Amino acid sequence: MTDVNQLLQQMTIEEKVGQLVQLATPFFKGATDRGEITGPMVQMNISENDIPLTGSVLGASGAKETMNIQKVHMEENRLGIPLLFMSDIVHGFKTIFPVPLAIGCSWDLELAEKSASIAAKEAAAAGVHVTFAPMVDLSREPRWGRVMESTGEDPHLNSEFARSFVRGFQGDLENDDSKVAACVKHFAAYGAPEAGRDYNTVDMSEWQLRENYLPAYKAALDEGCEMVMTAFNILNGIPSTGNEALMRGILRGEWKFDGPLVSDWGAVKELIPHGVAEDAKQAAEKAMKAGVDIEMMTACYTNHIQELIKEETLQESIVDEAVLRILRLKKKLGLFENPYRGASEAKETEAILTDENREAARELAGKSIVLLKNDNVLPLDGRQKTALIGPFSTSTDILGPWSWGGSPEDTITVDKGLSNYLDSDQLFISEGCGIEQGTDEQLQAALEQAENAEVIVVALGEHSDMSGEAGSRADIRIPEVQLNLLKRVKELGKPVVGVLFNGRPLDLREVTANADAVIEAWYPGTEGGNALADILFGIVNPSAKLTMSMPYAVGQVPIYYNRYNTGRPKDAPDAPERFVSQYLDIPNEPLYPFGYGLSYSQFEYGELTLSSDQMTQDEQLSVTSTITNTGSTAGEEIVQLYIRDLAGEVVRPLKELKDFKRLHLEPGESQEVVFHIEESQLRYYHANMEHKSDRGEFEVFVGTNSRDNKAKKFRLK
Ligand code: BGC
Repeated sequence: MTDVNQLLQQMTIEEKVGQLVQLATPFFKGATDRGEITGPMVQMNISENDIPLTGSVLGASGAKETMNIQKVHMEENRLGIPLLFMSDIVHGFKTIFPVPLAIGCSWDLELAEKSASIAAKEAAAAGVHVTFAPMVDLSREPRWGRVMESTGEDPHLNSEFARSFVRGFQGDLENDDSKVAACVKHFAAYGAPEAGRDYNTVDMSEWQLRENYLPAYKAALDEGCEMVMTAFNILNGIPSTGNEALMRGILRGEWKFDGPLVSDWGAVKELIPHGVAEDAKQAAEKAMKAGVDIEMMTACYTNHIQELIKEETLQESIVDEAVLRILRLKKKLGLFENPYRGASEAKETEAILTDENREAARELAGKSIVLLKNDNVLPLDGRQKTALIGPFSTSTDILGPWSWGGSPEDTITVDKGLSNYLDSDQLFISEGCGIEQGTDEQLQAALEQAENAEVIVVALGEHSDMSGEAGSRADIRIPEVQLNLLKRVKELGKPVVGVLFNGRPLDLREVTANADAVIEAWYPGTEGGNALADILFGIVNPSAKLTMSMPYAVGQVPIYYNRYNTGRPKDAPDAPERFVSQYLDIPNEPLYPFGYGLSYSQFEYGELTLSSDQMTQDEQLSVTSTITNTGSTAGEEIVQLYIRDLAGEVVRPLKELKDFKRLHLEPGESQEVVFHIEESQLRYYHANMEHKSDRGEFEVFVGTNSRDNKAKKFRLK
């Protein structure tokens, strides 16, 4: 067994610094395609001699290549320290699952874990050791393109999903080479950029940070997440990547995290344009002192750490600690015994895109697709002539951002999915327009097809580059040309089902006004077409619920359900007409609230009963409600429990999700749901950052979403 402390003793300073460097695949000699690497090397001021010293590789994607790179590296690295391979395996590797925001809408923690476990298995066979996931940045900002990477706007739900993803990726990491280490990102509060513009300023109180934004990172670490990635943004004036209070203070000090901390891509050098470092040398100093162990894709560490140590600006012990963290992870992954770990071409063939993996992707997609509106159109009975119109009718662009391992050929498109249920003479397909542009001929051809049909499915949305990193939008409507198509189709007077493929909550007013049913499919992944068809034809009864508020208009953004009341709430019984907190031109409420989603069944909630109207600090209170499926189809309902603290030391949200349960109910069936409330669920951050509860009155709500629920009060003694 390698003793990493001893190994460290044998390392020269160059070798130590090398461990702190992460470069993309083409830089390595064993890479399949080294392309024109001299240019980037010159630009970064690194040389061929630095390569064998490097500690980790970014973005390698197949067993053949990873093994080859490792082989060459092991021959050239003096002490035989293997490379760590890291990649963004965010919602699947080859079998692509729905985007994380969609997975959030499933509220299905087990399936989320399974998806991560399948992703890990496929990626580990390809030689990946660490995935840059889960991304758990809480966001209330649909203009921000990266909202599709996290599970939404709620700290409790995001924390639960963070745990599930980490469990799924890592499992028994030390003994199971089909698992990968997880790297939670982006620390911290990257999801709150001003005005929704990517990489932009984040400025928030410590209280807000701790209440809402930090819990999911902490949850991932409590689950044993091995690594953390910094964020691009500044947080209260200091870039996260150079933020000592955040990383040495909270992350390492308070939370005792002792794994490697990697910068985001180029973020160390970005300390210069941020305006906190004069040059690359100062950037290296600040990032290192703040606690960044691995510098991704810039060479400030390579070029300046030795100098900083010589000058005694930086202590070598800080570098040693960083190196040790990296070596310990390599050891934990078993790389010193077997630098190839789980990589094997044979395993790749075996593990990738199996029927089982596809089945799991189809199931999760079915559970992630949200039914927003249904005026007696759905489910379809399969007997009607159906027109499939819109740019997503035959598009393979339904995998979403961060699906670089997935391929179009493996993707089940909407038309393919529908053809499972409809004969070819029943299904008429015509795009009608592109995503952002169209011609009159396209439009006329689609209208002709639609004329022949009894029901029209219109598949609309954003192409995947319209969200994701650097994918912010100020106008969050479906592009005009598609809205026009929908309106023209609607004029035909036939039932219209709008299906949406997109990576963010959108302003859907014009869509809901021009469609009798609306389905939010997000980016559903490899099995998207099948999953959608299962929903359209009622083989799967929709059960998903939104985990981000769907705004009424972009002017409401940021919008979130767990907001504060203000001193002049609009809905107070004695509220005057004007001097209340409101917009003059739009409602305060979102179009569809957090937790909202329809089913083909109808669920009726009985009155709430509490085991007592008061509880002490060490008692539990049970909250019971009976839920009945009054519809004619079996269905699943996600029953949600919210709490409001009616008077705190600092203001408390109008509602906070504290628990939920999934029920399966046959037609006519009733089930009693019992939740237990305990004191720990009533705690919050006080003005002095103490996390505790207050005695006093609370309100508990149980219901089908954050807006529609039954309430009762109780007192904490
Ligand atoms: C993204 C990260 C990602 C990294 C490596 C960056 O641009 O912000 O989320 O993990 O690239 O691909």
